[in-house]
Amino acid sequence: MIPDYLAEALGDVASDTSGAPADYIPELATADPDLLGAAFATVDGEVYGAGDLDVELTIQSISKPFVYALALADRGFDAVLAKVGVEPSGEAFNEISLERGSGRPLNPMINAGAITTHSLAGSQELDAGARLERVVAGLSAFAGRRLEIDDGVCASELENAHRNLAIAHMLRSHGILDEDPTAAVAGYTRQCSLLVTVRDLALMAATLANRGVNPRTGERVVPERAVRQVLSVMSTCGMYDAAGDWATQVGIPAKSGVAGGLIGALPGQIGIATYSPRLDSHGTSVRGVSLFERFSSDMGMHLM
Ligand code: DON
Repeated sequence: MIPDYLAEALGDVASDTSGAPADYIPELATADPDLLGAAFATVDGEVYGAGDLDVELTIQSISKPFVYALALADRGFDAVLAKVGVEPSGEAFNEISLERGSGRPLNPMINAGAITTHSLAGSQELDAGARLERVVAGLSAFAGRRLEIDDGVCASELENAHRNLAIAHMLRSHGILDEDPTAAVAGYTRQCSLLVTVRDLALMAATLANRGVNPRTGERVVPERAVRQVLSVMSTCGMYDAAGDWATQVGIPAKSGVAGGLIGALPGQIGIATYSPRLDSHGTSVRGVSLFERFSSDMGMHLM
């Protein structure tokens, strides 16, 4: 029944060919724009889906809430909040958006905040390689399988990472980053280049919905308190300068990525994921937004 419902929903949005795959990372522009998939993963560990469920895409900004959770778990709330705020920026994901005076990024969902939370994953003594391994292992635990990096997408983004490098240099000048900005951006870009399927994304979201325990493996990935913080920030900041539209029209904590993935987590119920590479002006999947609007309305998922 659920796969039939999902297949029908995918069929209804398939005619919308507006938007375009991201091209500021040249490798992403080569994605087949017609790919389309959706999956639901319940907190009992059931996964239902339709469409292109097993095609791999890079996780991109959908990694941000999960790495924020790892940083909170590894360094504690006070240390993370000292470096990254929790206020919506109302600006695009790649704006500088630092708090006046302190130089703290406004939140961990924008690039400035996410480059910082990448630097806060794992214990303080770790070198960049061990820290990246902590991030890969942590995101893999959310997904319930070992995730791999797409080296081609990563290299393509790094060749064009002038904006993230500029942000990282600003963060270094404010003492928010206390390492080489180039190393921080390299690690963050590798994090964004992890390959996932829409099925993985639904399970990662379901691990948030299940308050930090992967519903398939039973592993507690992060503490419940960290998940509450992450879901709160996803609901206020996860959709950047479209956060208000999303809150009113969909009403589910969510996160988008420029490869075309989109996740939402309904606490205590399900994780939802969609994949379609054509993006709107906010860097969010056009058909993904339509699908989430439909799911929310059909199933009364709006939390407010
Ligand atoms: O930092 C970047 O530009 C990318 N690696 C991730 C951006 C992203 O996915 C924005 N979200 N929609």
